[in-house]
This record gives sequence, structure tokens and C-alpha cells, in this order.
Amino acid sequence: MTVRKKTIGIGLLGLGTVGTGVFNILKSQAAQIEKKTGVRLEIRKICVRSLKKHRAARASSKVITTRVDDILNDPAVDILVELIGGIHPAKEILLKAFAAGKHVVTANKALLAEEGKVIFLQAARHSRSLGFEASVCGGIPIIQAIREGLASNEISHFLGIVNGTCNSILSAMTQGSVNFETALRQAQEKGYAESDSRLDVDGIDSAHKLAVLARLAFRTEVDFRVIPVEGIRSLSALDIQYAKELGYVIKLLAIGKKTNSGLDLRVHPTMLPTDHPLANVWGVYNAVFLHADQAGDMLFYGRGAGMLPTASAVVGDMIEIAKKIHDGVSSESVFYEPPQKRKVLPIGETVSKYYLRFQVADKPGVLGRIAQTLGRNGISILSVHQKESHPTQSVPVVILTYQARESHLRAALRMIDAQKEVKEKTVVIRVEK
Ligand code: HSE
Repeated sequence: MTVRKKTIGIGLLGLGTVGTGVFNILKSQAAQIEKKTGVRLEIRKICVRSLKKHRAARASSKVITTRVDDILNDPAVDILVELIGGIHPAKEILLKAFAAGKHVVTANKALLAEEGKVIFLQAARHSRSLGFEASVCGGIPIIQAIREGLASNEISHFLGIVNGTCNSILSAMTQGSVNFETALRQAQEKGYAESDSRLDVDGIDSAHKLAVLARLAFRTEVDFRVIPVEGIRSLSALDIQYAKELGYVIKLLAIGKKTNSGLDLRVHPTMLPTDHPLANVWGVYNAVFLHADQAGDMLFYGRGAGMLPTASAVVGDMIEIAKKIHDGVSSESVFYEPPQKRKVLPIGETVSKYYLRFQVADKPGVLGRIAQTLGRNGISILSVHQKESHPTQSVPVVILTYQARESHLRAALRMIDAQKEVKEKTVVIRVEK
């Protein structure tokens, strides 16, 4: 009779916000986890950068080390849990961990987005499991849902609010509670923001998560560097206000669509009608709306950042792998097969509806010339809204368009913005339904 391994050894790399959450969940829930799953998760080593730093997690000094090799070389560690983030040295550590026979759980979206190919291959080569639920949408089990629950489906498209920091900032700006800087500071204080918050604000974190989701949903290798990305830094309170008046909200969306000419993947501020399922996702909450061919439309919603939601996803992966070790089941390789590589459409080849705000001199004929230039470039106008006029300053004119190809729009705007009656660079916000 085979003796099944019941206690699974964990090596925790990083004891920051999420690491502390994982430590605390394991401490308080160990008995519950064992009762529910039949496995016991035991922390055997914790690797930190400095022993001097004061920590919220009360770990015994016997398990604390500053040397990663103490985890990699410890035969009592079955699963390495990487929570240090960033590409280097996380990449090298994970490659070594698989080679040393460890399974890995990570929350590292940047690493999977930018170096996913080599990481997944190494896991497959050594028949080890790689859990990465926490890399996208914090506590929402969307990776598991796509990998398993929807495995019999083709996913044609998804729209996601996948960055809690940006959603908190945009929520605050939309609801008029606090300004951009204060909302960002609050997200940093709550442990939602990346250590370099430019990753959040400039849309890069969302693009990392988009690449991970696209890889799974569309079973394709994605070249992260070619995903068009725009953040929320240049969004103005004025456009948020006008959007509201027109019955829309502005969200930073990660968009993934399969089209006949390639994958349409992009991250940018997007206007959504207020009755859209994503329009009422506020604060740190994340949500992904997707279409699966068998199951239809669905919406995943939950806390996308923060200590316990993210730690809960990490622990979920640990349990799944621990159960496999306990049951003697070998790690599946189906998700690690080198997937096909599909072209990511350059932004000029994408198609969208647009909100355009022109700042123009309030003179006869100006609006006519703008409409004519749009028309000549194949852009059809849905509605025109002239805002309050001021005798000495430029007036805002807002135009909503029907669907158009972005390269056509850009060509039209180059001509329009060159006119002397157009006083500022035209604001463009894409609109989704
Ligand atoms: N900075 C990220 C966010 C953390 O705000 O969503 C979770 O990945």
C-alpha cells in the first residue's frame, strides 16, 4: 500500500503584503484546510530580504532565512510560493525551483506576461505544477474558471477591470469624493498599488494581466511588448463629467477579442454605458465580463487587490497542488503545451466607437469642417454635443461616432488638429457596448 503524503512543505519567498496574508491564513485556517481537503500545509522556510525589517507576520526565527537556496535545497519544501514580484530574480528562482523538483505558486503577473513561455516550458519539462490564480484579479478564481470550468468552451472575447488601484482612482474621480493624487495615496496605503505605482497608473499591470488571461482564454502565446497600452494619467475630470452627462462611465479596461485578422488585445480608458455590467464595478473591485460559446455571457466579480483576497487565491493554488501531491497525481501538462502564436492587431487596425472632444473657436463653419473631415475619412457621426460657450475662450464640442477603424480616425484627427480654429489636441476615448 502506498503511504500518502499528508503534510506538504511550503517555502515562502517574500513576506510583504501578500506573503503576510498567506502566513496569517495558513496559521488561522490550517485545521479547517486539513478537514476540508485532507492535506496539511506547513511552512518550512520563509525567505526575506532583510532580517531587520519589522514584520506584521509573527514567524518563528527558525524558519526565517535571507538565502533563497535554503528553500531550493530543502527536501522538505514541496511547493515554493513566490511573492517577491518583478522579473528578476524571480525568473531565475522559478527556473531553479522547477529543476530542483519543486512545484511553484506565484502571484507574479509581470513575470508570466513577459517571460511566460520559458516559465511554462520549464514547469512542463520537469512535470511540476505552476499555480498562478493570484496573478489576475486577486481573490476572483478566474484562472481556474477558464482552465477548468470553461474548458469545453471557445472564448470569443472578454472585457476586464483588472487593476484595483486604477478602478479606485477612477471611482473616486467619478463619484467626486477625492482627487487623483489622494485616491492613489489611499490605494498605496491599503496595499493595493504596486511598489512602483506607475505600473498601475500607466496601464502596464492591466496589460500584464491581459496577457495572462489571453494566453489561457485564447490558448495562444502573446507577445506582451506589442499590446497597445494607455493608462489613466491623462484622463481629465472634464471628460469624466461629460461622459456622465451622456450616460457613460469611464473605466480602465483590458480588452481581449478574437477577430479574423488577429487578436485584438488592448488596455485603455474606455467609456461604458451606465447599464453595462462593468459600469457599476467600483473601488478596488475587479470584474471580467466574458463570452463563452457554450455557456454564454458571464461576469466574474470580486476584490482584485489587497492582502487577504490575493492571499486567498495563493492558498487556493497551494491546496490544489498539495492535493495532487497527496493523491500521487502527476502534474498536468495540457496548459503548458507551447500554444500557437497569434498576431496582435496594431492599434490602427482595431475598430471601435469613439468619444471625441474638440476644443474649438466658437465660429460659424468650424463644426461643419470637422464633420466633413470625419466623413471624408469614413467616420460616421452618432451625435454632436456643444458644451457651454464662452466668448473669449475655445468651446468644447463632443462628438460620438459609430464604429470606425482607428487608423481612419487618426488620419482625420491629424487634419482636424492642424486647423487654426482647433485650439487643443483632440481628446479620444474609445467606447464599448
Ligand atoms: N496593483 C494591483 C492592483 C495589485 O491594483 O490591482 C493586484 O494585482
